[in-house]
Amino acid sequence: MKSVVDGYAAIYDAGEQGRREQYRSLVNHYYDLVTDFYEFGWGQSFHFAPRRRGESFKASLLRHQHYLADRLALKPGMQVLDVGCGVGGPMGNLARYSGAGFVGINNNTYQIERAKHHTRDVGSRCRFIHGDYMRIPEDDDCYDAAFAIESMPHAPDKAGAFREILRVLRPGACFAGYEWCLTDDFDPENAEHQWIKNEIMVGDALPEIASMPEICDALRTAGFELLEATDRAPESDPGTPWYRALQGRDLTLSSIPRTPFGRALTNLTLRVGERLRLFPEGSRAVSTLLNAAADALVEGGRSGIFTPMFFFLARKPERPEG
Ligand SMILES: C[S@@+](CC[C@H](N)C(=O)[O-])C[C@H]1O[C@@H](n2cnc3c(N)ncnc32)[C@H](O)[C@@H]1O
Repeated sequence: MKSVVDGYAAIYDAGEQGRREQYRSLVNHYYDLVTDFYEFGWGQSFHFAPRRRGESFKASLLRHQHYLADRLALKPGMQVLDVGCGVGGPMGNLARYSGAGFVGINNNTYQIERAKHHTRDVGSRCRFIHGDYMRIPEDDDCYDAAFAIESMPHAPDKAGAFREILRVLRPGACFAGYEWCLTDDFDPENAEHQWIKNEIMVGDALPEIASMPEICDALRTAGFELLEATDRAPESDPGTPWYRALQGRDLTLSSIPRTPFGRALTNLTLRVGERLRLFPEGSRAVSTLLNAAADALVEGGRSGIFTPMFFFLARKPERPEG
C-alpha cells in the first residue's frame, strides 16, 4: 500500500496537466487505497444527498438515487448504463426499485469485484464492464438511459466524457447525474476559497472542479439537449446539511470514526497496526488524506462555494428526419 500512496502523491504533484494525462492511474490508485475505508465508514453508495429533517443518512442516499430513477422513468425492460458505478450500491438499489437492467462501467478492478458481490441478489439484471468511461467499449445507440452519480468529477475532459455517453444512448434517451461543482459564491481571488478547492481536489483525486455553467456548456457541446439543471444542496434541512455525515455529528455507531475522538482512535489503531503488520504500511497516510478531504468538503459546504449535487437531466436529440 505504501508504494500506491507514493504513486498517488507523485501523480498528484505532476500538476493539472499531469493529472489530466494520468487520470486513469490517479483514479485507480486512489480507489485502490480508499475503497475499504469508504465501505467501512460510508457504506456501499459513495455519494452525498440532501437530507430532510429527521431523515437518516441511509434513507437520504436512497431517496437521492430514487429521484434519478424517477426522472429517467426507469422501468422493466430498459437497459441502463451506470457510468462510474463504484461498488454497485446505487445500481443494486435502482435495480430493485425499477426492475430495469443495468450495466455498470468502472475502471477499478477491485470495485467491480465488490459491486458483483453487492448486487448478487439482482445479478441477472446487473452486468459490469471493466473500462474507462472516456472510451466506452459498447456500440452506438444501445442504451435506453444513463446516469452518473458523482463519477464525472474525475473526468479529464467533461465534454469528451459526455460525448461518449451520448454516443451509446439511443436517440431520444436521457442522461442524468449529480456533479461536483463550484457555486457562484466561489471567488477565484479569495485565498481561502482556493485552499478549500485544492484540498478537495487532492483528497478526492480530481484533476479540476468545474463551475455549474461549465457543466451545462459541456453537456451542450457534447450534443445533448439540456432539459434541467439545478443544485439540490439547498434542499437539505439546515439542521442536517449534506456534509453533516462528514462531521461525525450523527448519533450512530458508523459516525464514530469521524468524531475527533474516533479519528484519534483510528490513527492510534492504524499506527500500532502498521507496526505489528496487522495493516499494510501506508494505512495511516490514507486515513489522514481522507480526514483532510472530509474537512475541506465540510468547509466547502459550510461556505457555500461547493456542491456535490448539481443535478442535470439531458436528452440525446432524435435523429433528424429523412
Ligand atoms: C465517488 S465514486 C461514485 C461511485 C458510484 N457512482 C456511487 O455513487 O456509489 C466515483 C466512481 O467513478 C469511477 N471512475 C472515475 N473515473 C473513471 C473512468 N475514467 N472510467 C470509469 N470509471 C471511473 C471510480 O472508479 C469510482 O467508482
